[in-house]
Amino acid sequence: MSQTLDVAALAATYANKSPQDILKLAFEHFSDDLWISFSGAEDVVLVDMAWKLNKQVKVFSLDTGRLHPETYRFIDQVREQYQIPIELLSPEREPLEALVREKGLFSFYRDGHGECCGVRKIAPLRRKLSGVSAWATGQRRDQSPSTRSEVAALEIDSAFSTPERPLYKFNPLAQMSSSEVWAYIRMLELPFNPLHERGFISIGCEPCTRPVLPNQHEREGRWWWEEATQKECGLHAGNIISKA
Ligand code: ADX
Ligand code: SF4
Repeated sequence: MSQTLDVAALAATYANKSPQDILKLAFEHFSDDLWISFSGAEDVVLVDMAWKLNKQVKVFSLDTGRLHPETYRFIDQVREQYQIPIELLSPEREPLEALVREKGLFSFYRDGHGECCGVRKIAPLRRKLSGVSAWATGQRRDQSPSTRSEVAALEIDSAFSTPERPLYKFNPLAQMSSSEVWAYIRMLELPFNPLHERGFISIGCEPCTRPVLPNQHEREGRWWWEEATQKECGLHAGNIISKA
């Protein structure tokens, strides 16, 4: 279903509405053409909320090939528990093999994470989003003071839209805090990634994620060898572009 929405007006109206209201708006306009992107971490809350509104909800995860074993098991646990087919997107073989052949398996520590994320996450995501009208993410404002403090309930995806086709991006959890997310998980006894019991707050790929110390911000456990302002992998590049 192709739609033209007044994004600025809707984002203002929905700025303080509940995640469920934002999801209802998304399903109302895009129904089966709305895809939830699930990272295998605490964004299970988004899957749960969406599934409760629409049992046919469509979910995908980017299988970078470098996720923790715990994350793979957790993604499958969510699939079983909700009885939903989670689509796993793999990188293209040729660019991946070329990168590893030329630079090895850990080039990101030396060259920055952009190139590897480009092959393992962004290209597969671009391929996926080229065929959909809207997606929803578990991004929250409190996840990163330097890049996510202005995440809106709804936006035009500035990274993946094309001149011919706007791509709508919903961020239903934008206003939720980490403690609200965890209260929801615990109160409703949702499954969660066991890495959270071992000091991990934000979870990405295994070589690029580490647990944080008490009072460290969650983002400090991601790509810790890089500047805080660069800690977006390109999935949410608009967060950086819009601030430039
Ligand atoms: S990232 O860009 O730094 O990796 P983050 O881990 O904070 O993102 O997650 C924010 C949201 O991005 C998640 O709730 C999810 O919607 C999406 N996301 C992140 N990683 C993945 C992934 N591997 N597969 C699908 N969606 C993802
Ligand atoms: Fe590669 Fe690390 Fe990006 Fe994963 S997070 S795609 S391992 S650079």
